[in-house]
Amino acid sequence: NYSRRRFLTHTSLGVAATLLPNWSGAMQGMAMLPQMPKRTASPTFKPDVEFELRCERGAVPILTGQQTRVFQYRAKLLKGPDNTLVTLPDSYLGPLIQLQRGQKVRIHLQNALPEASVTHWHGLHVPAEMDGHPVYAINPGESLVYEFEVLNRAGLHIYHPHPHEATATQVYYGLAGAIRVSDAEETALELPSGAYELPIVIQDRAFDADNQLAYGHGMHASMMGNYGDRILVNGRADYQLDVDSRAYRLRIMNGSNARIYKLGWDDGTPITVLGVDGGLLAAPEVKPYLMLAPGERLDVWADFSGRNPGTLLTLRSLAFSGALPSMGMMMNHSSLPLGSDFPIMTFKIARKIDDSPKLPKQLASLTPLTLNQCSNPNQPRPIAISEGHMAMLLNGHAYEYNNPLPTERIPVNTIQLMEIFHEHGGHGGMGMGRRHGSGGGRHGRMGMMMSMAHPIHLHGQQFQIISRSIEDADDAGYASVRDGFIESGLKDTVLVMPGETVRIIKPFQDFKGLFMYHCHNLEHEDMGMMREFLIE
Ligand code: C2O
Ligand code: CU
Repeated sequence: NYSRRRFLTHTSLGVAATLLPNWSGAMQGMAMLPQMPKRTASPTFKPDVEFELRCERGAVPILTGQQTRVFQYRAKLLKGPDNTLVTLPDSYLGPLIQLQRGQKVRIHLQNALPEASVTHWHGLHVPAEMDGHPVYAINPGESLVYEFEVLNRAGLHIYHPHPHEATATQVYYGLAGAIRVSDAEETALELPSGAYELPIVIQDRAFDADNQLAYGHGMHASMMGNYGDRILVNGRADYQLDVDSRAYRLRIMNGSNARIYKLGWDDGTPITVLGVDGGLLAAPEVKPYLMLAPGERLDVWADFSGRNPGTLLTLRSLAFSGALPSMGMMMNHSSLPLGSDFPIMTFKIARKIDDSPKLPKQLASLTPLTLNQCSNPNQPRPIAISEGHMAMLLNGHAYEYNNPLPTERIPVNTIQLMEIFHEHGGHGGMGMGRRHGSGGGRHGRMGMMMSMAHPIHLHGQQFQIISRSIEDADDAGYASVRDGFIESGLKDTVLVMPGETVRIIKPFQDFKGLFMYHCHNLEHEDMGMMREFLIE
């Protein structure tokens, strides 16, 4: 019943040993039911930071009345700076993990859930065997040691479960948290910090009459993803914060299973962006609104200076269309359909403050990745999105947990040009030859109707977006989102709208092994809209 063993029993041991050298321990003992090695602490690894991270059941107050039963991460610091773990009060979310670039980190993951789990550090550049690949999932009662060095520049990342076919439900029931990496370059900017730097994790949930989390509304809803009609921020409903009349830094993360937000201020103030998934931009950018898909992060400068005490300012999700086929809108049973307009959270100016930091003109030194650094400047590696009959595929395939032979192999220490696009005209499984657009001609309205937006996430190092193009530039849905994308900076998740083609440059440096890429609509991911690269 434990799928990892199923994986190994259905696999020739020779193949597994070649592909997964770190599994050599699994080949010892009983041949038919090999155990994964339980990774324990390495005596040669000298951590600067060490903590226990426990996945467990709990109950938290979310709505008035009965507490809500959840899954949650709880942590205990064993070694490192006192501010490494910051608990969010009354929240099911795990503590904010604060790391510094260059630190060596050891984490003892303990599974006290009734089901197998494994944790992925979304955004961190870590070795394959530390990345939370589903094959490393541990059973209830087991533990797993992660050891890695923080190689990333400053940025906000995510930790969340990644077990085979159970990521969506475990995240939905509460397992997630934020990781904040800082570095010297960021610190020197003296951006708002301490009480003036706020983590904002946005999620949507549905509750039953007893205040318990309700998941799933049938097959059709899962094709579209799972949506809730209550917006939670940092695990709290109707989130309101008292703020001073000065500048804040908002570290925003979309931790929802499927919901895409179009963030905007209710008084029409444009949004000032400092950074995206992979950290700070070279310079701030101002946008009328910002799109934020599951798995994406935004670093926002919110300046409340000059506003009078008592003033309310609401961060909303504004109306948009085109992310779901219209049929999907009808089948989405949520009373808060994707693309509707609703409040996310409210800031109340509570105190007048006279001095506020100024927005820096320059932020980070970022050397752009260029085409001539790519091994394949004229032959982008395809990531074809297709929506088949009851299936969501990448490059013509659904994820095959029991078949460890990835079709995508990439030489280590190379930089690759990749192209993510919607493949039309079929019920999937037709391979990559049916790409619409390469043969000329536009797909009909029907083709567009079948498409939906997918946030594509690639594990490993962050990438750079070099172009976005759309087949039907006049599409009304696209017009309602197009000004909300940040193309600069480094990303690990990119929202690909129906009919859109996105080209990225991604480095594959330092580590060999299996790394996932998938749709971060977690229902799609669990349906198999996931593949892996073998970096070799
Ligand atoms: Cu945030 Cu593979 O996931
Ligand atoms: Cu998807």
